[in-house]
Amino acid sequence: MAYVVTENCIRCRYTDCVEVCPTDCFRAGPNFLVIDPDECIDCGVCVPECPADAISSEEDLADSQRSFVELNASLAKQWPVIISRQAPLPDADDWKAIRDKLQHLVTEPVAG
Ligand code: F3S
Repeated sequence: MAYVVTENCIRCRYTDCVEVCPTDCFRAGPNFLVIDPDECIDCGVCVPECPADAISSEEDLADSQRSFVELNASLAKQWPVIISRQAPLPDADDWKAIRDKLQHLVTEPVAG
């Protein structure tokens, strides 16, 4: 079992979660973060830190977010580790309350 970053993170990427993780299990994509399930120790300290309420334990995931288990696992193998907080995406606050953002997920590395 591991914690999972869900759809609410897309286009927000506040990164408050990264700061508290004791195992450096977060991986950063262009507009989304994932948790590497092989690194996550299931401590849950990241959950209350997220302003977008984007992190959930696997067992508490809503049915609509189940696909994010596999998405976190697969993208964690492609994306680099992030160990310190960064500025949120510029329009993070505008996207925070928006649902159904999966079509906005960017999975390729940013050029340059
Ligand atoms: Fe994403 Fe929330 Fe972390 S928006 S980057 S899961 S603090």
